[in-house]
Amino acid sequence: MSARVREEFARIHGPAPEGVWAAPGRVNLIGEHTDYNDGFALPMALPQTAVLAVRRRADGLLRLHSAQGDGRITELRVADLAPGAVSGWARYPAGVVWALRERGLPVGGADLHLDSTVPTGAGLSSSAALECVVAVAYEELYGLGLERPELARVAQYAENAFAGVPCGVMDQMASVCCAEGGALHLDSRSLEVRQVPFDLAGHGLRLLVLDTRVKHDLADGAYAALRAGCERAARLLGLPALRDLGEAELPGALGRLPAGLVPLVRHVVTENARVGRAVERLEAGEPKALGPVLTEGHASLRDDYGVSCPEADLAVEAAVAAGALGARMTGGGFGGSVIALVRAGEAARVTGAVADAFGSAGFRAPVALEAVPSAGARRLG
Ligand code: GLA
Repeated sequence: MSARVREEFARIHGPAPEGVWAAPGRVNLIGEHTDYNDGFALPMALPQTAVLAVRRRADGLLRLHSAQGDGRITELRVADLAPGAVSGWARYPAGVVWALRERGLPVGGADLHLDSTVPTGAGLSSSAALECVVAVAYEELYGLGLERPELARVAQYAENAFAGVPCGVMDQMASVCCAEGGALHLDSRSLEVRQVPFDLAGHGLRLLVLDTRVKHDLADGAYAALRAGCERAARLLGLPALRDLGEAELPGALGRLPAGLVPLVRHVVTENARVGRAVERLEAGEPKALGPVLTEGHASLRDDYGVSCPEADLAVEAAVAAGALGARMTGGGFGGSVIALVRAGEAARVTGAVADAFGSAGFRAPVALEAVPSAGARRLG
């Protein structure tokens, strides 16, 4: 990949790039809609990455090209970058350059060529991968001295303020901080992370990713509304964030909230607790025991948080009925992908059962991938 991206860069932009970097997409094992509540999550990086070849320019121009784009170069003046000014995929890399400059960092223009294998629109954080690969490349080229969590914050700020998507920090933290062979126990308040071993192969397990190929239009507005609902609930409870509510205090707290906020708060609090249970099981060397936690998490997203969809529900139900140890939607929801933890020998049966169920329901055939805990953002050459 690195050599091909290097060659493509030279073909498109002229001289050779100064370097090539990669940043992965992610799946989240558990801890959904907790990040913007200052809570916990347990994502892992995918082998699929966004790869970037880059060469700095002295004339203040940002010239962006993507192997997945329409073949044209998007040319922008760094000094003119402003929220809302760029659309499509280019707003993610351009947003990171803007966000770095907003922090007062002396970064300028560049020629960029991007080539990503992270599926788009599948809830696997393809946009975070684009942001993070630019963030790590600029950090190194300019010697900015920013730690990984700070780069994740820059990338999140680009997505929030430049691209206008009110996401939390999980996807960007996963993309820059994950390590091969493990999942990332993330505290979204302090941005402290711990690598948790997740040896699927050693335990005869596989983690399937089933892309439902559904993306509902309401996703952005609904996400923002849920986030606002959680923030309102925290205010009503006199807490800095829902992270500060423990499971033991939940019954009392729910009694003090308007009925509409009750299921949201119940999801967030129980989901934070599920992250803790999942981490305990992985650290005890029992990844099989993750299964029920996943399925329970799905029920909470479906019934309390209301972010699942018929396709994801059917995928979970069919996977579990076919012998998966556990399954759940992953990411923001309203479509996207489902993960299923399966015994290695049962992967084909589970994938087939989900495909059959989709066929019978008249849904488009799902696309199956495999998630292997992979490395976070890195320099390739
Ligand atoms: C999206 C957002 C994340 C997170 C998840 C839900 O992926 O980008 O910040 O909120 O949804 O867990």
